[in-house]
Amino acid sequence: MTNILFLIVSTSKQLEKIRFVATTHHGLEEVLADELKALGATNIRLEKRAVTFEGDQKLMYKANLCVRTALRILKPLTSFRARHESAFYNKIKKIDWSQYFTLDQTFAIHSVASSDYFTHTKYISQKAKDAIVDQFREKTRKRPSVQIMEPDFRLYIHIINDECNLYWDSSGESLHKRGYRVEHYKAPINEVLAAGMIKLSGWEADSIFIDPMCGSGTILAEAAMIAYNIAPQLHRKYFSFKNWKDFNAELWEEVRQEAIAAERPFKYEILGFDVAFQAVRVAERNLERGNLADKIQLNRKDFERHTPPEIAKGIVIMNPPYGERIETVDYEINGFYAMMGDHMKEAYTNYKVWMISSNKEALKCIGLKPKKKHTLYNGALECKFQCYTMYRGSMKKKATVES
Ligand SMILES: C[S@@+](CC[C@H](N)C(=O)[O-])C[C@H]1O[C@@H](n2cnc3c(N)ncnc32)[C@H](O)[C@@H]1O
Repeated sequence: MTNILFLIVSTSKQLEKIRFVATTHHGLEEVLADELKALGATNIRLEKRAVTFEGDQKLMYKANLCVRTALRILKPLTSFRARHESAFYNKIKKIDWSQYFTLDQTFAIHSVASSDYFTHTKYISQKAKDAIVDQFREKTRKRPSVQIMEPDFRLYIHIINDECNLYWDSSGESLHKRGYRVEHYKAPINEVLAAGMIKLSGWEADSIFIDPMCGSGTILAEAAMIAYNIAPQLHRKYFSFKNWKDFNAELWEEVRQEAIAAERPFKYEILGFDVAFQAVRVAERNLERGNLADKIQLNRKDFERHTPPEIAKGIVIMNPPYGERIETVDYEINGFYAMMGDHMKEAYTNYKVWMISSNKEALKCIGLKPKKKHTLYNGALECKFQCYTMYRGSMKKKATVES
């Protein structure tokens, strides 16, 4: 009887609809919404650098495992209003934290604010931590420890004016950490941004894929996982939700097995090049680590001296130097972009070439008019991510772009 009751309670908890928040980078909200919809999310709403959606516990597990363009999946805890730090501290202290975690478990707090009342996010986290620790100490004379990396629980505080929203971060660590990028070469792009760029490009794994300036191989790794439909977090062990009292190991395993069963073959090539030997070596080791090495061919090539395979349809996604973070060897930056444009016209017939760069002056030197453009941020740098469609004859600047 007790077992049946437990089963009913736990199943109904699993099926309970919750309004989650998935955070992301600026400009990726729509692709994130599409990804969540494909997993079964409902009532999806686009916010600034976030998407809210409804789903149950299984969807939360699926989102953590399979979504490529989310940074964190947050589950609401509570909301309240506060206009000064003592009110904030008191309201946090009123929550019974012992119902969520014990003294032996570690926690961390991440805060984001857009408020005239609270301006320093580190201070917000500090105040919230004090309130939690003080509550435990007053009750037990002991306190739980804060742990920045991989804590058992991560509280996410989002303050808009005087509205304080508290969430449990089910991911615990940012989902851009896929586990394959163990080494960096110069200015690596964020994994979530790389996946978002591929999604924005509209590539449906229906052609050859090339990154001719691959650096540490991030764009290639994300392309391979999209091509073969490999869940981006398949090899990650740590998720904060595994430490929650309602963690359902069986359901989590079911979600993992479903993701593995959904992998698919891919019949085109994925090619990566870089002028620097060291970059190619770093990319090789990263792809090896991500079990992706057999899916991608890497070679040292100078963009200008290399012609890609002649095909009827292909895609290039590249993150060239911007002239701010990495210098080019043979050219000043505008000349480098002019060289890229000339070589694209000469050698990349039938390819769609997508490029991200923060250097708007240099992008003009490509000498082609992009038809599609998105604004994205690579770290703090505002960038344009734009597409050039290369036709036979674009050398003569005839048909340079399409929609
Ligand atoms: C911004 S980094 C790319 C970072 C990469 N997306 C990643 O995530 O690691 C630019 C890369 O372009 C490469 N590069 C510069 N000039 C090149 C050229 N002429 N041909 C090929 N690669 C070049 C650099 O060696 C560098 O690895």
